[in-house]
Amino acid sequence: MTDEYRHVPVMLAEVLRELDPQPGETVCDCTLGGAGHSVELARRVAPDGLSIGIDQDDAALAAASERFSREVPEATHRFLKGNFADLDDLLVEAQIPGVDCFLFDLGVSSPQLDFPERGFSYNEDAPLDMRMDSDKHTQTAAEVINNYTETDLIRILRMYGDERFASRIAREVVTTRQKAPIETTFQLVDVIKRAIPAAARRHGGHPARKTFQALRIEVNHELDALDSGLRAAVRWANPGGRICVISYHSLEDRIVKHVFSELSQGCTCPPDLPVCVCGNVPIVEVRTRKPLVATDEEVARNPRARSALTRVAVKLDAADARNKVRPVERPFA
Ligand SMILES: C[S@@+](CC[C@H](N)C(=O)[O-])C[C@H]1O[C@@H](n2cnc3c(N)ncnc32)[C@H](O)[C@@H]1O
Repeated sequence: MTDEYRHVPVMLAEVLRELDPQPGETVCDCTLGGAGHSVELARRVAPDGLSIGIDQDDAALAAASERFSREVPEATHRFLKGNFADLDDLLVEAQIPGVDCFLFDLGVSSPQLDFPERGFSYNEDAPLDMRMDSDKHTQTAAEVINNYTETDLIRILRMYGDERFASRIAREVVTTRQKAPIETTFQLVDVIKRAIPAAARRHGGHPARKTFQALRIEVNHELDALDSGLRAAVRWANPGGRICVISYHSLEDRIVKHVFSELSQGCTCPPDLPVCVCGNVPIVEVRTRKPLVATDEEVARNPRARSALTRVAVKLDAADARNKVRPVERPFA
């Protein structure tokens, strides 16, 4: 790891146990970051296997490349810059036939929070940016704060931040920006502090935490990307392939749970129909009815692991899937 790119991988032991990468397999880490998980996955599939790493952040890709050369020089790897929402295009372009292990370790990495100029942190004064891929000409957090209607601000603060003072913060944002645009992290922190009652500011962590989280999710379309990326991963997984997702937010976890549950559904016909008429077959088997969580010992070492929720599914092969469905109606048989 480069000195400035330090991120401790979360639930590494559980990820390795659940993905169980074997020599010669292809692994795809859709959130490469500092390669904390990827180097360990790569070690297990090397030298004949392939490690694919995807990230939309140039700094993460550079740090991961450097770490791979130093720690797993024997590993064959391909690093792809892009958003995992475009997984289909990325894997087609890289001519990957199929993948045995997929990992999604969602959100931002510690260095992204620590580099003040990225605008993710409420502890550092910087332009309000928060784009994970700053090459893309997508909207910044400043544009969201200065252009969204009060109603839309309330919506994102409630939905993505679970912020109980959403209305007060949105009102204060609108009042403040009428005088001059809100352009920096500290300007926004001041607005939030003015909006939240003094008594509430003394509890529950930094008063700007939830607003910053909501803005980051909105700016990077994180929830839409997760839904598309996960469905694509299921399509690209080889039969028996494992897909592991670590979420840090209940909305992310809800999407993972929903997608896995939908794709593991077989027949959806009413139970009193003697034969299946819908023809739906399960595509994955869910390994985790409840999400796995980090051990107390890991949480003590790495506070970021506290909110981690890990879900795992396995891609069924066609024969397995057929065994899980009721007989299908054949009208003219
Ligand atoms: C939590 S970090 C991953 C850390 C990594 N597992 C490690 O242990 O070093 C998440 C990484 O995923 C990237 N990321 C988040 N959403 C992404 C997306 N939709 N497409 C591509 N990369 C994404 C971020 O840029 C960040 O580098």
